[in-house]
Formats: sequence, structure tokens, C-alpha cells
Amino acid sequence: MQKPETDLHRETGLAWNVTAGIYERDEAKDIALLRGGGNSLLAPEHRFLRDLASWCGRAIHLQCAGGTDTLSLWNMGAAEVVGVDISEKMIGVGRRKSAALGAPAQWYCCDVLHTPHVLDASADLIYTGRGALPWVMDIVAWAGVVVRLLKPGGRIYIFEGHPLDWVWDMQADSYQLSPRTGDYFAGEVVSDRGWPIFSTPIQEHPDKEAFHVHERQWTLGALLNSLVGAGLLLECFEEHPDLFWNQFPHLPAELAGRLPHTFSLLMCKP
Ligand SMILES: C[S@@+](CC[C@H](N)C(=O)[O-])C[C@H]1O[C@@H](n2cnc3c(N)ncnc32)[C@H](O)[C@@H]1O
Repeated sequence: MQKPETDLHRETGLAWNVTAGIYERDEAKDIALLRGGGNSLLAPEHRFLRDLASWCGRAIHLQCAGGTDTLSLWNMGAAEVVGVDISEKMIGVGRRKSAALGAPAQWYCCDVLHTPHVLDASADLIYTGRGALPWVMDIVAWAGVVVRLLKPGGRIYIFEGHPLDWVWDMQADSYQLSPRTGDYFAGEVVSDRGWPIFSTPIQEHPDKEAFHVHERQWTLGALLNSLVGAGLLLECFEEHPDLFWNQFPHLPAELAGRLPHTFSLLMCKP
């Protein structure tokens, strides 16, 4: 029998907390990037998040990891930023970065589904993605959190891995269905499929067998319906050939460019 969602989230969070060692290692480099006015957002994200200074007071980053993307939103014009993540080490990394920069930032360590009510109706922008949604076991409850955090007129922007990528064998040199996850519609929870279990901090941990992560791939329909059902309106949806991490190391670039690997979704709260 499957464990309750909160237990799955807790287990996944414990593994990410170990993997946070990588984010700690990169802390100084990330601070230097941000201090120089740089940001870590990718080309498709820049097209959607233009001119933040003119409309974004508070940006809330759900599943913010080490906070570099969160603080990038500040560098891009958001007046203040809030990072939410289940891993206390990740939140520690984010907090140290904002202290070093003197940035107007708040950090909350919690399950995204339990994001504190003190943040309700306060976000002009909710930003999330790049490997965030598959860790959430209840997309309808997640959409409810998004809607309660947004101000009226506020927007959510998601730049996430395309769920179609779930079906491909990551080690193949062409598009081949994965024997384990090759069914787009399966809707199953899959444990310990890859990252972060294969990250060095977990592989080198003396108790590495104790760590487990749980993910499921939400179809585009399930994601869109969760947000529409919660009351949001679609502004723009685009699919991109861009990858945000090297998940298909043997796939030739020419083949990679023929199918979507990421998507952008912009929706607003009426
Ligand atoms: C791949 S990272 C997110 C992408 C991030 N932009 C980055 O650069 O790494 C996934 C993050 O989700 C967090 N996470 C996983 N499950 C969560 C949950 N239920 N609630 C809040 N955070 C969660 C992890 O701790 C981790 O920091």
C-alpha cells in the first residue's frame, strides 16, 4: 500500500537535504554571480518575466532549492522575494546568500503544501519549476496553495520539464521508451528513479540506502486542469526544445531539438 503523501514528501525532502551539499559548495560562486547583477534564469524564462520592476512587488518561489533563482528574480526587478523549500539546508543556503547580498528576502522551510498562511494573497508572482512539480504528490492541493498565495491580478509562471520527457530512456542515443516510465498516462508514483539519489552527497553517504525519493509526472492536462479548477486564467502556454539539465547525455542535439523538453505556463488570478 502506498504511504500517505506527507510521508512521501518527507522522505523526498530528507534526500534533497543531503543533496543540498552541492548547493552549499556552489554558494560563493552563486553569490558572486548575483552580486554582479547576474541571474540564473534561462532564455525562455526571460521572455516571460520581462520588466518585473513595473509589476512585481513580491515574488514567491515555491521549491526554491538554494535560492539562486529566487534572488535572480530580485536582480530582475522584483521588490522582494520569498523562498519556500522543504529542505532546511537548502533554506540555509538561500538565507546566507540573501544576507551576503543585503537582499529583501524571506525564507520558509516547509512542505510546499503547508506554505504558511501569513503569505496568503501577497504574491504578485509565483515562480516555480525546473524539477519542482514531479515531487508534489497532490497537484490539486498544490494548485490550491498557488491560488491562496496570489494577490488578485497576480500571476504564476512555471518553467518546467516537459512531462513527455518522462517516457524516454535517459541513457539511449535516440528516442526509446523507458522500460520503467515509458507510459505517459500511467500516473504512477516512481521511487528512486535517478537524481537526487544518484547525486554524490547521497552516493557517498554512509547510510545511503536509507534515502528514497518519490516522483510522479503530471500530464500537461492534469496540471492545467488543476490551475483552471482553482480559478486561474491562462495567459500563455509554450513548449520549448530547451533542456535545463543534461538528462539525455547520449541524445544527439539534432534529435533533442525536434521534441519539447520544457514548457512555459503563465496564468493569472482574476
Ligand atoms: C530540482 S530542485 C528545484 C529547482 C531549483 N530551481 C534548482 O535550481 O535546483 C527541487 C527542490 O524541491 C524541493 N522539494 C521537494 N519536495 C518538496 C515539497 N514537498 N515541498 C517543498 N519543497 C520540496 C527540494 O528540497 C529541492 O530543493
